[in-house]
Amino acid sequence: MINFEKIMSLKGAIEVPADKSITHRALLFSSLATGTSIIYNPLKSYDTLATLEIIGMLGVDAEIEEKRIIVHSRGYKNFVEPTTVLDCKNSGTTARLLLGVLAPQKKYFVITGDDSLRKRPIDRVIMPLKSLGAKIFARDENRLLPATIIQSDMFGGKIEQTAASAQVKSAVLFAGVQIPDEITYIEKVKTRNHTELLAPAYGVDISLCDDIIYVKGGKELKNYNITVPGDFSSAAFFIAAALIFENSSITIKNIGFNNTRAGFLKVLKSMGAKIYVDEKKYDIEPVCDITVDYSSLEGIIVDGEIIPNIIDELPLVALLGLFSENPVEVRSAKELRIKESDRIKSIVFNINALGGNIEEYDDGFKVYPLKKDKTDREIILKSFGDHRIAMINILLAKKFGKNVNVDDIGSINVSNPEYLSLLKMLEVK
Ligand code: S3P
Repeated sequence: MINFEKIMSLKGAIEVPADKSITHRALLFSSLATGTSIIYNPLKSYDTLATLEIIGMLGVDAEIEEKRIIVHSRGYKNFVEPTTVLDCKNSGTTARLLLGVLAPQKKYFVITGDDSLRKRPIDRVIMPLKSLGAKIFARDENRLLPATIIQSDMFGGKIEQTAASAQVKSAVLFAGVQIPDEITYIEKVKTRNHTELLAPAYGVDISLCDDIIYVKGGKELKNYNITVPGDFSSAAFFIAAALIFENSSITIKNIGFNNTRAGFLKVLKSMGAKIYVDEKKYDIEPVCDITVDYSSLEGIIVDGEIIPNIIDELPLVALLGLFSENPVEVRSAKELRIKESDRIKSIVFNINALGGNIEEYDDGFKVYPLKKDKTDREIILKSFGDHRIAMINILLAKKFGKNVNVDDIGSINVSNPEYLSLLKMLEVK
């Protein structure tokens, strides 16, 4: 159990670690491509290191330096069949994207993950891959890891989005890159588009027309050097922190500002947050600096097509509800139940533990402003092995001081191993 010293506000400027989604994709594209690709400023966290370890088991060489990873690959036509099980650990992105990367390989693979990942659904990825001819067998009627992939001849086809998930879309696209035919993916609800943005740089024949993505696969991919911007979702914790610690004013530099990721800023602006965005020149992925000043916040209802755009930031919206003038409600967010923890349940548990008032819905929650907390007594917030819940608990512990304990914070290494040191750089006691 851990407790933290109370802090009063946050001041200063930081850079957050690199984007997790983009790092996973850069590692996978660099492995599929033939030649040497360099990934500058990669995220080195538990999740992306899981992907890195697995590409090594496919026969891809990687040199890990302090500020870059150099990937040497003989291309996807020369992957080797691993001799052991591929362990994705806690990383849902690794597991889902890997199913797409490996399904067309005509080899034998077994994919698994840790206790949390083995409870998260993968049928959403297996179904579209099977309709393109993949042969994948997974536990509990193809719902859960471990999964086995066997040799198959995959073919082209048309896939319509059934889950608003970038991981499912990306799995289909990573398979499509290798299938000597055309695949079409129809995305009714827009999800993060990092895979589509990166694909042409690695020589993928991909085109986009409204909500339809076309990939003509089977060609050799070419090496590429990419610089990964800061992770918007990691930055979001600091942005939220500046809004709950009075008199804060912070700047976060070089954050990825892809419009399929930045819904949180729209929500914060509607709540009345003082946020200033300084957009910069960029190559593939938009980048910006963000300054945020402590502001009093109005309540809001977050619902509809913005949800996939803000999916990883919704627990932060709940946190801000505690410190807003009026309630904050989130709906159409059932996906939260199948993240690293059931995030609706995790949020409800911790807000109740704190003495707050929250209503739980099947697809969301409504958080009421915190009138009277229970922090005059010792309380324990639980992280449920979920990095985003742990990072919120740390903010609450620093807001309320020594009676607020957090059961475990080890999971923060999944996405931001520098979280505590970056907070320390900004803290004013
Ligand atoms: C991710 C997509 C999202 C997100 C996850 C990372 C990705 O998951 O929650 O943290 O890199 O594609 P879904 O695709 O399940 O929505």
